[in-house]
Amino acid sequence: MAKSYAPFAFDVVILGSGAAGLACALDLPEHLSVAVLSKNAVGGSTPWAQGGIAAVVESTDSLEEHIQDTLIAGAGLCEEQAVRHTVESGEDSINWLVEQGTHFDESNGKFHLTREGGHSHRRVLHAADATGAEIHRALVAKARSRSNIRFFDQRVAVDLIVDKRLPVNERRVTGVYAYHLGKSRVQTFAARAVVLATGGASKAYFYTSNPSGASGDGIAMAYRAGCRVANMEFNQFHPTCLRHPDAKTFLISEALRGEGGRLTLPDGEPFMQRHDPRGELAPRDVVARAIDFEMKRLGAGHLYLDISHKPASFIQKHFPTILEKCAEYGIDMTRQPIPVVPAAHYTCGGVMVDSQGQTDLAGLYAVGEVSYTGLHGANRMASNSLLECIVWGRGAAEHIARDTLPALDLDAYAPWDDSQVEDSDEDVVISHNWDEARRFMWDYVGIVRTDKRLLRALHRVEMLKSEIAEFYTNYTVSGNLLELRNLVQVAELMVRCALKRKESRGLHYTLDYPENLEPGKPTIIDPES
Ligand code: FAD
Ligand code: SIN
Repeated sequence: MAKSYAPFAFDVVILGSGAAGLACALDLPEHLSVAVLSKNAVGGSTPWAQGGIAAVVESTDSLEEHIQDTLIAGAGLCEEQAVRHTVESGEDSINWLVEQGTHFDESNGKFHLTREGGHSHRRVLHAADATGAEIHRALVAKARSRSNIRFFDQRVAVDLIVDKRLPVNERRVTGVYAYHLGKSRVQTFAARAVVLATGGASKAYFYTSNPSGASGDGIAMAYRAGCRVANMEFNQFHPTCLRHPDAKTFLISEALRGEGGRLTLPDGEPFMQRHDPRGELAPRDVVARAIDFEMKRLGAGHLYLDISHKPASFIQKHFPTILEKCAEYGIDMTRQPIPVVPAAHYTCGGVMVDSQGQTDLAGLYAVGEVSYTGLHGANRMASNSLLECIVWGRGAAEHIARDTLPALDLDAYAPWDDSQVEDSDEDVVISHNWDEARRFMWDYVGIVRTDKRLLRALHRVEMLKSEIAEFYTNYTVSGNLLELRNLVQVAELMVRCALKRKESRGLHYTLDYPENLEPGKPTIIDPES
């Protein structure tokens, strides 16, 4: 008989310790007890962020221009309310980050601002080329100093606890089951409110700029719990990731292009002007498609990003992390161009939320990359993501603080039951399935799509889903199995959204429907219908 353990009990359980989860945790009142769970160690994509965080902090810039730039990059699919709210909260978010201890680069007593694709002004605050690491360092230090916040590492959230016997409109989340990677068992976390801050799903693709945990767990969990999900066809490909046989994908920041870096063909010829008058600083969907087009035209395995015309001292000051990483692979970016390819980078769609971060399920919030707020539309503009994490993470905290949270009844929690399952001796199959899913997503649901490719992907998703269901029912869970189950679920959502969109827009480009249909509408998938 399996031993049963008492649940952990908290007022608020936050799944994720990136910028969004930590912003929420820090803005919750200190009388609320808060658990912050991380899949592996504290982190996520946030500490990997390079270019910076966008905000209007200078009088030569304006909120209206930041709003317009975001709407243009979003290709007619942003929700203007969400854009206005986020952009208008920009300066306050920067002040808050500074109060938490974040140091941004300065020049002549003012923030140094860099520029990235889609922005009509220099408006990206940064800490050299490691902005995410600096923001994350400050937020983690602050959160660790709070007595009401407790971190739980090595906990992979499995599923939200919801009484699904109730009608949809009466359901409420009451906690989460989480698999302890070290102890190999599932623990129960009871909560009066749960916040998904689990980041994106770019790991669904074979080549990605993201850390390995970005398997869309929060999106898959929310969907299984009955929440609507939107715009999953818009997974962003970052145009420039390092291409080297020994390197796992490493991002080469768009700020390099903002500071004058040129994209070139293998013979050194610049080509972006042929694709868009905004050249290297066109929005990402445009630049990634142009690179994809030129690579296919030339049969090239990569193209180049060249900033070697800038003084070495400038490169050392602004891009020390990228310089060091390139040097590890024998590339001296002060003298030679960097080989680059596009890779999956950011999930523009996600769990649908209202203006306060509330999902369709009472008590459940979603903040940061896991959410669909309407800010990014069909293509996120560079450096708007960290801003969204701070604005919406804090917004959810404010709403939770005002809400009347129900009391917990700890006797009502059924412990995780694994008495009917056995240990799997086929773990290798799980890793092969992982590989297969990520490869067909890359091949069939990439930068350029067709219905035929999408249907091939859907067919493979369905086969994998039934195999995974069998694994999940018969064997004890493991971190890899849980990630695979979620990854294939989000892959299905991406394909189904892509099949629904009978037009090309932003990041979704299909040879079968090359035109825009007006007016643009989000693609919504409702698990309850
Ligand atoms: P993350 O920071 O990804 O954190 C997710 C958290 O959820 C992690 O702690 C993880 O452990 C946890 N988690 C996930 N699943 C589970 C589970 N099942 N159970 C428990 N915990 C779980 N954006 C910008 O605005 N500017 C930039 O310069 C920029 N540069 C980038 C560079 C790179 C290389 C990458 C990958 C992204 C970049 N982005 C940038 C995007 C931005 O970093 C992310 O969108 C943002 O950091 C996401 O923050 P988040 O808090 O939503 O999630
Ligand atoms: C980058 O530095 O190019 C990444 C910026 C972003 O994803 O917003």
